[in-house]
Amino acid sequence: MDLARGKNLDVGSHGLDISQLPTFDAGPFNPGSLFPDPTLPLELEIGSGKGTFLVQQAALQSDTNFLGIEWATEFWRYAADRSRRRAIANVRILRADATQFIRHWMPDGSVRTIHLYFSDPWPKSRHHKRRVIQDESLAQFHRVLGPGGQLRIVTDHENLWKWDLALVERHADLFTRGEFIAPPSAGEGEFVGTNFERKFRREGRPFMAMSLTKRSAADGAAACPATQQLS
Ligand SMILES: C[S@@+](CC[C@H](N)C(=O)[O-])C[C@H]1O[C@@H](n2cnc3c(N)ncnc32)[C@H](O)[C@@H]1O
Repeated sequence: MDLARGKNLDVGSHGLDISQLPTFDAGPFNPGSLFPDPTLPLELEIGSGKGTFLVQQAALQSDTNFLGIEWATEFWRYAADRSRRRAIANVRILRADATQFIRHWMPDGSVRTIHLYFSDPWPKSRHHKRRVIQDESLAQFHRVLGPGGQLRIVTDHENLWKWDLALVERHADLFTRGEFIAPPSAGEGEFVGTNFERKFRREGRPFMAMSLTKRSAADGAAACPATQQLS
């Protein structure tokens, strides 16, 4: 895959590789240290692809740090170069396996929102273990989110949607499902406006979305689920 198409991509200080971070057993890691203003609240995007959501939303929401985590080198390089060229101070793109990074590096209660848009569906049964949503990852997302923090999911893939729903229902003690509200950067009729959403919309695919709010011990019984579907 050549996303550069002859351009000389430069990740600058917007792109980081996990090998540049202190090892996870070197002591508590402060994700704020990746940004010029470490004090801002933090949002993560897992599988940020070309970085379309991040650059659009971060420009509108300068009071928040956005960390995209992308394991494919070409996408990572493209998104980091894009953020650097636009001089968006509150975006960083980390080349890493997001589930491993969250599990080993991210401190408890350090994230306001986790975005997971058009995650790879891994349709073959023997590859389902590679899907992002698993028992372990849901527990980790719950751990790193702060009080009232959210996990936001959009997909076009029906089997992946069913998989995610089944896991979320199995862990109804961790999250309450609610309405998915489009971010201000989304275009007319869009859930989010990522690259894959725009491509799939042109193909006429339907989308499914959910917003999960972290439950705490004080929340009591699980709330009634709500999901949305848009063609
Ligand atoms: C189908 S693409 C969607 C990209 C983007 N979210 C969008 O909607 O345009 C899924 C992306 O997630 C990345 N990805 C999948 N699993 C990942 C993981 N565990 N950690 C980091 N990136 C991951 C893939 O490399 C790919 O770029």
